Amino acid sequence: MRNINEDTITTAVLESIAGCDNPRLKEVMSALVRHLHDFAREVKLTEAEWMEGIQFLTATGQKCDEKRQEFILLSDTLGLSMLTVALNHSKSPQATEATVFGPFHVHGAPQLEQGDDMSGGAVGEPLFVQATVRGIGGEAVPHADVDVWEADADGFYDVQRPELTGPQGRAVFKTDGEGRLNFKAVLPVAYPIPTDGPVGRMLAAVKRHPWRPAHVHFIVKAPGYETLITHVFVDGDTYLDSDAVFGVRNSLIGNYVRHAPGTAPDGSVQATAFHTLDFGFVLEPA
Ligand code: BEZ
Ligand code: FE
Repeated sequence: MRNINEDTITTAVLESIAGCDNPRLKEVMSALVRHLHDFAREVKLTEAEWMEGIQFLTATGQKCDEKRQEFILLSDTLGLSMLTVALNHSKSPQATEATVFGPFHVHGAPQLEQGDDMSGGAVGEPLFVQATVRGIGGEAVPHADVDVWEADADGFYDVQRPELTGPQGRAVFKTDGEGRLNFKAVLPVAYPIPTDGPVGRMLAAVKRHPWRPAHVHFIVKAPGYETLITHVFVDGDTYLDSDAVFGVRNSLIGNYVRHAPGTAPDGSVQATAFHTLDFGFVLEPA
């Protein structure tokens, strides 16, 4: 392994990991090295450019903390998150499609009951969600865990508002004995992903906008079924065809309906306009 040049370096690195006794790690590392080297050869990467790349990745890591996940943003905006979703979730055509997880999920959201309001006081027009959870055979999935999170009407998740002392716009529910779930939320709006970091600078440099179309996030989990991570998007949104993270699927566009002030599905009388969303989640068997 001396006198290595641009033609022999790839083989030299691959030989250096030949002894790896984890076959999957060896496969992934070998492919990564081959593609990275081919990338550098293809663009004739200069030393100054690679130093800039290293500084970009360093800044991406430095931007991360408990509430800010800049590497997830990078993966999402480069389409890598959606590519891994597409590679891993395309089994049954009847099942609800998966989409990106995103960086704003928080473990341990409040466990709420059927009919409860998950907004926690978040600003926004009232939204009454009526969901069902079924298997691909049409069977109801009782007592499924449904984790829900959304941004408020200003386009911010609670974790982006340092002034808050408690959760807003997030909750965990259980479907009832017939796989049904009703709850109250706020109408989601389109929002820009955070742009005050290296990923924002990258988007601006390549002339991309940072917007995501309005959506509510869901994780649906039940024993015997594949866990589903998805969104329900709002029809007519300006950004459905240019989502900054490539997550939109036609089947995930929900029927959000606007209603004039009056009686809501939970029997309450709403003094202002409100919205309803009916959506059926379909889970694949595990
Ligand atoms: C989100 O929908 O919360 C999200 C997804 C990817 C990047 C940023 C935000
Ligand atoms: Fe989101």
